[in-house]
Amino acid sequence: MSTDSQAKFPPSVILPIIIFILLASLVIYLFLENSEKEQRITNLETEKLNTQRDLVNTTNTLLKEREQASSTINELAGRLSLTSEELADIEKDFEREKEKNEEFEKQIRKISGTVNNLDKLSKTDKELLQKYSRTYFLNENFIPMKLKKIDNQYVMPDKTDLYFHGNAVGFLEEMLDDAKEAGFDIRIISAYRSFDEQADLKGQYTQIYGSGSNAFSADQGYSEHQLGTTVDIVDMETRTTSQSFGQTEAFKWLEDNAYRYGFVLSYPENNEFYIYEPWHWRFVGVDLARDLHRADAQFYEWDQRKIDEYLIKIFD
Ligand code: DAL
Ligand code: ZN
Repeated sequence: MSTDSQAKFPPSVILPIIIFILLASLVIYLFLENSEKEQRITNLETEKLNTQRDLVNTTNTLLKEREQASSTINELAGRLSLTSEELADIEKDFEREKEKNEEFEKQIRKISGTVNNLDKLSKTDKELLQKYSRTYFLNENFIPMKLKKIDNQYVMPDKTDLYFHGNAVGFLEEMLDDAKEAGFDIRIISAYRSFDEQADLKGQYTQIYGSGSNAFSADQGYSEHQLGTTVDIVDMETRTTSQSFGQTEAFKWLEDNAYRYGFVLSYPENNEFYIYEPWHWRFVGVDLARDLHRADAQFYEWDQRKIDEYLIKIFD
């Protein structure tokens, strides 16, 4: 058999056939491979076209969206600026209203202050800071709005039923308490005196001293004692009104401290109205007494209009 084959295809033929077959196979292989590559390229190009189309679409969509967004932003910005303007207007209105309210409150406070002052003044005897020493005349019907009996512990033992202004008696008692604490047992020997009581007293003095009584006793209607805010103070040794009281330590204490309780000495040495009366103390309110003390001035030295300003706070 083999011998037959060898006879049909001699080796010189077999080799070219093999080479031919190999070359043909190579050609077929290359052809196939090329076809496959072309196919892949075609696919890739299609894919590229698709991708490009998608990209264009996406870009268009994004551009549209951006356009929409920017128009929305513009619209919002417009609205916002409108709102800001409205807000600024509202703020301005608010400030205006606030200012009006503040002004209104100020006026209310002022009015209520005025009402309060008028109310206070209506409850305060307008005579309390007038100068009664031979200058003003107190009506015979004048009686202070409030009179209160002074506690007996502050009064000379042989005296009873002494009265003082109800709004000032606390200042008087506190002053005497503090004097006592400082070692001075000083007492009240005379306080409120009505028009008639003063007339009686002056009558008695006139009977004894004649016109000389004018040097130390006021006519009825001219005595500070009728105000209810004046007291005569003596010490427990002398027990009567005496100029020697002016030499005592107790008097010195009063001179240094009475203003703190609203009291002033009406008739110091060399005053133009009466003799020196170191016992005669008048309540004028803490503010006025303090200001007089600071100015080293006497009550009767100050202008009446200046003094009148203190009436509103006489009992503060
Ligand atoms: N001793 C004074 C002046 C009076 O009588 O009021
Ligand atoms: Zn007196």
